[in-house]
Amino acid sequence: MAPASEGAPRRILIDTDPGVDDAMAIFYALASRELEVVGLTTVFGNAHVEVCTANAIRILDIAGRPDIPVAQGAARPLAMPYRGPADFVHGANGLADVTLPPPSRAPHPLDAAHFIIEQVDAAPGEITLVPVGPLTNIALAFLLRPDLPSKLAGIVLMGGNAFVPGNASPAAEANILNDPEAADLVLGADCPITMCGLDVTEATVMSSAQIATISEMGNPRARLAAQILPFYRDFHVAHGGPDGIHVHDSTCISYLLAPQHYGVRHHPVRVDTGWSVGRGKTWPTTRHALSEGPWAGRRAVTILTEVDAPAVVALELTRLSRP
Ligand code: RIB
Ligand code: CA
Repeated sequence: MAPASEGAPRRILIDTDPGVDDAMAIFYALASRELEVVGLTTVFGNAHVEVCTANAIRILDIAGRPDIPVAQGAARPLAMPYRGPADFVHGANGLADVTLPPPSRAPHPLDAAHFIIEQVDAAPGEITLVPVGPLTNIALAFLLRPDLPSKLAGIVLMGGNAFVPGNASPAAEANILNDPEAADLVLGADCPITMCGLDVTEATVMSSAQIATISEMGNPRARLAAQILPFYRDFHVAHGGPDGIHVHDSTCISYLLAPQHYGVRHHPVRVDTGWSVGRGKTWPTTRHALSEGPWAGRRAVTILTEVDAPAVVALELTRLSRP
């Protein structure tokens, strides 16, 4: 995928469950002229979908972007009940329990899946979907319109773990575990897909010292970031993580802006949709001979496996500091 810096801005639609790191990724995209955010769609995950929708609108309010529509999506996964909010990670309100003004507007009248379809039909071949939560809305859009993947520029998603353990279980990463059936369907779509999984996001750390510099940046986006990041950092420290945060959702934006900072492998991927300990694990097939059976007919996914972490963290902080 060519860097977004070449030519016209790359048009992206972010599907999100804000969420502290979702907020950072949205701010990052909005501060990057190489990208045009055509809309946000919301999904259950870090919080209930209604909370995520209100937070998405609040984030755009703070960024001064009333022009960007927000369409609410799925409240639960395809094939199981919602596992419940990750309030111990993102706070009960999804944004570190920071008190914020109410959202300034109502969501878009269309639901997320139909909004995605409308946007893609209006600009065939132009839209890159950037899902950074459970993949339920994307799966619903593809179930409604099986031809939709062929009309996408591609998908750059935060989720999965190819060659490293999970974070929501020993087997699985949180976005995938929140809807394995949806993830398996989306990862089998016939369009260019890039998987920004724990292989690189847990190798990308924004340190406490770097987080401390954000409060000096003096713009509304940075002010919110400075308010919500400490809670998220404390979760990492309390659970054996780094003295800082793992940069999950922003990795999709860094990849779109600067793919040269990543090492990749290309393999078809299946998701364990069983009901045992492996549920939600993303399985690349690394041996051609094993590309038959459950992986047969699946297009190879671009899997990020290496990262120049200092470079991408510096890029994100530079963009966050923009007025
Ligand atoms: O595993 C990390 C992912 O789960 C991120 O998208 C975070 O926001 C949560 O949704
Ligand atoms: Ca997320």
